[in-house]
Amino acid sequence: MAKIIDGKAISAAERISIKEETTAFIEANGYAPGLAVIIVGENPASQVYVRNKHKACGEVGFLSRVYELPEATPQGELNALIDTLNADEAIHGILCQLPLPKHLNEDEVIARISPAKDVDAFHVQNVGRIMLGDYDFLPCTPAGVMVLLREAGVEISGKECVVLGRSNIVGKPMAMLLLQANGTVTICHSRTKNLAEVTRRADILVVAIGKAKFITGDMVKPGAVVIDVGMDRDENGKLCGDVDFASVEPICSAITPVPGGVGPMTITMLLRNTLTAAKRFAQAAN
Ligand code: GUN
Repeated sequence: MAKIIDGKAISAAERISIKEETTAFIEANGYAPGLAVIIVGENPASQVYVRNKHKACGEVGFLSRVYELPEATPQGELNALIDTLNADEAIHGILCQLPLPKHLNEDEVIARISPAKDVDAFHVQNVGRIMLGDYDFLPCTPAGVMVLLREAGVEISGKECVVLGRSNIVGKPMAMLLLQANGTVTICHSRTKNLAEVTRRADILVVAIGKAKFITGDMVKPGAVVIDVGMDRDENGKLCGDVDFASVEPICSAITPVPGGVGPMTITMLLRNTLTAAKRFAQAAN
């Protein structure tokens, strides 16, 4: 029987630490860490995410501001808001919820957010710093996976790590973090030949390809640790991951469920990044 890595419990414990550190931060500095979240338009999934982020900020004692802009907001107006928030000393983290409406340029928005306030770690400067192993922020999902592996007691050094998926937000930074932890890392993707042969080599398999139940038991090495970043719907419309839990769980040594695995960690890591940004701001001011 595989160990089920409980992302809900690990996330809750991490949020308690963040709340304690936030209380100490407010005591020392006289102000709270501040996060600004921008949402443009009315994408229902984005609205839920933004609401959850706002609620989570309140629970740990952060200042949280949500900017809800209409669908037709011109690029210039969005840019101007980012400029204002970059200069706002009460705001230490800025997040513009993606995806944006089609007429807006996401790259331009990401580039405009001050790297010191880029709590998504999407800015080219922060991406570069991750590559060099000298960073303040990590993108929330791979950062959450690293905490799950640590808390589950998974040793990474010297292990065969396979990352399935090469997105800028998950796959690429995930591979980099596993490499920094001295894993032997392979990245595979939709064009990889003999995929099952590669995934079967993994001691640690991280799956982020966005295809429901794609990884089946025959693609997993007995005893592997399997991390499922997927958030998909199965044939009945039920939430599931990229891993076919029923066939993989009996084979692996540890696995994250969906829901309740990686998902709960992402907002927690956003809180962690915002607290880090506030600490850096306070250090620079002293
Ligand atoms: N949309 C879905 N996930 C994310 C995220 O992590 N950051 C931002 N900014 N938008 C998202």
